[in-house]
Amino acid sequence: MVSDSKSAASLKFNDMEVDLPVYSPNLGPDVLDIRKLYAQGDVFTYDPGFTSTASCESAITFIDGDKGELLYRGYPIDQLAEKSHFLEVCYLLLYGELPTAAQLDEFIPRVTRHTMLHEQIQYFFRGFRRDAHPMAIICGVQGAMSSFYHDSTDINDPWQREVASIRMIAKMPTIAAWAFKYSIGQPFIYPRNDLDYASNFLHMCFAVPAEEYIVDPIVSRAMDRIFTLHADHEQNASTSTVRLAGSSGANPFACIAAGIACLWGPAHGGANEAALNMLREIGTVDRIPEFIERAKDKDDPFRLMGFGHRVYKNFDPRAKVMKESADEVLDLMGIENNPTLQVAKELERIALSDPYFVERKLYPNVDFYSGIILDAIGFPTSMFTPIFALARTVGWIAQWKEMIADPTQKIGRPRQLYTGEKNRDYVDVENR
Ligand code: SDX
Repeated sequence: MVSDSKSAASLKFNDMEVDLPVYSPNLGPDVLDIRKLYAQGDVFTYDPGFTSTASCESAITFIDGDKGELLYRGYPIDQLAEKSHFLEVCYLLLYGELPTAAQLDEFIPRVTRHTMLHEQIQYFFRGFRRDAHPMAIICGVQGAMSSFYHDSTDINDPWQREVASIRMIAKMPTIAAWAFKYSIGQPFIYPRNDLDYASNFLHMCFAVPAEEYIVDPIVSRAMDRIFTLHADHEQNASTSTVRLAGSSGANPFACIAAGIACLWGPAHGGANEAALNMLREIGTVDRIPEFIERAKDKDDPFRLMGFGHRVYKNFDPRAKVMKESADEVLDLMGIENNPTLQVAKELERIALSDPYFVERKLYPNVDFYSGIILDAIGFPTSMFTPIFALARTVGWIAQWKEMIADPTQKIGRPRQLYTGEKNRDYVDVENR
């Protein structure tokens, strides 16, 4: 927990003066502790969207938006994407340190042997229309999981928290793959314990009972890297949703379902689906200027999907790695001159030379290139956000566990700036 404050800020207004302790983090800006402001100063702070508000103390992930830097437990994302693999990153995010070989040998089978779903759960899928968006299905099935795993819903029991965590990390690929299979009318493929995490997911998505399906190791490596790049990202909207749901004492399965619901939005995790749809709508390089002008037009709700970020005011480091992977995967899959990739690269070049984007520091984010890789692998755009949710499940869980274990945590309950009607008396309908 943060140590004693290094100094104090003094806030003077009206005839009051309130001292606000100042804490210094290991990385990032100092914070002003305003917890006593209302009691001592009878005022609220006002920060819709929390652009200047630290909602919690965390030791998991750090982003330097100006440098375009992302650290998982202190390790740079580009090093982890190159040298590590997703389940090792899961261990790092959950427990704070890179595992020894022995720890990894114990952790991986724990996940692998929890990838099956209770056989009854498949009937939840069958209750959806075949054309249901996979995000609707995984949100519903994830929430329903709490009705199956009563032995891991007591948040006050560290062992049950651990069991629920492993179950969700292990089962999310099966849930996402089965949502995909259901939407294309193919039979569910069961997980296989002889495959690694990413290969198992690909196998459940693309195998059919009628013939053997061999997972391409290049594709599996790219899939694993996409999971790593999406694993966690500080207090983004969906992680904050999970923390707020968890602060009420809701069971972990319900909290993760809340995170999935929030991630679905096009301004957040839904941007990768929207970004590829946008690139396809642009279609050819010569139509890019028309869309650039639309993105700048305040009267046009259109935005360049996959550009901009609440925190990054430089390149999203994940986009850099993703761009390299896009080139590698497309080349190795023999998809030269992919028109969508050509439009993406030219759009990036033009946008980053346009004063509108330069002045607002709008750079490609994680969602700009991920869709191109997923499309090349064979996923429909409707599966892009479920894959984001699959990867982010470990981040949501790590953040949720950190919050639950914090003895100072309490239910989240923001206040408001009320601009509604003042107190007034009821009027009978005949007098209105
Ligand atoms: C993710 O928080 C996270 O960490 C999220 C995430 C994670 O890993 O969890 O990184 C994942 O959600 C990435 C972001 C994916 N979203 C998109 O790609 C959608 C397109 N981007 C925008 O919707 C927007 O950039 C946001 C929502 C990402 C950020 O919005 P902000 O910080 O609230 O910024 P803003 O909307 O206030 O924009 C500032 C200015 C505005 O113009 P002015 O009012 O100053 O004239 O930039 C403009 C905006 O109009 N702007 C854009 C734009 N993004 C911002 N203009 C055109 N196209 C865009 N994409």
